[in-house]
Amino acid sequence: MEKREQLYEGKAKKVYATDDARYYIVSYKDDATAFNGLKKGTIEGKGAINNRMSNLLMQLLEKNGVPTHFVEELSERETVVKKVSIVPLEVIIRNVSAGSFAKRYGVDEGIVFDAPTIEFSYKNDDLGDPLLNSYHAIALKLATREEIETIKQLAFKVNDVLRAYFKTLNIRLVDFKLEFGRLDDGAIILADEISPDTCRLWDLDTGEKLDKDRFRRDMGGVEDAYNEVMHRLMGE
Ligand code: TMP
Ligand code: ASP
Repeated sequence: MEKREQLYEGKAKKVYATDDARYYIVSYKDDATAFNGLKKGTIEGKGAINNRMSNLLMQLLEKNGVPTHFVEELSERETVVKKVSIVPLEVIIRNVSAGSFAKRYGVDEGIVFDAPTIEFSYKNDDLGDPLLNSYHAIALKLATREEIETIKQLAFKVNDVLRAYFKTLNIRLVDFKLEFGRLDDGAIILADEISPDTCRLWDLDTGEKLDKDRFRRDMGGVEDAYNEVMHRLMGE
């Protein structure tokens, strides 16, 4: 697979064309942002950790019947993925109250839900990724009713698989954000990444935060938290 021109640079990744029209190469950066890019920084080694972790989890999900964009890990930071057009929705699943949920509804963090919740926001930085429901998404032609149904089913399936898996690592999967893409034939597959940037991960015993909230909230120990998750994933 040959890397061609850079197509896009996002906040945490770059995307390159390849010599095969079916595939892109993503390259994970150490750059970190929060609050729609207002807060900027670097998390040393994050790119390599997120690349490896995302690829491990995507392969686990594939084995469990969730179609993903993962094709092949090329190097520490680079992975071949299927070319998709991203559905402009951020799909957020929550098992425990935290973050914007706790703030919006005026509840404490750490309340364990009887059943997971799902919410969507419109992936649009200029608008600050506003929350919307499935009717809004259809009205805005961001996705069809059928696509949203598929996305919901896949997102809850991802939650079932990942929650059980993280439990074996003594980690509570509090919440996470997913993005989906369309292949040329219209099939919906899981895209983007699954990492401590996009999940809240709490140690099951101590409640210690092992994710990007340490960066968002200036808690310190950011690199250590990412490394800790990586070590547990690698069975170390
Ligand atoms: P929230 O509580 O801030 O809405 O975040 C919910 C989950 O989504 C949390 O695991 C972090 C993740 N997330 C992203 O991956 N990207 C984002 O831009 C935001 C706001 C949250
Ligand atoms: N990555 C997002 C941003 O820069 C937000 C976040 O993860 O908190 O704004």
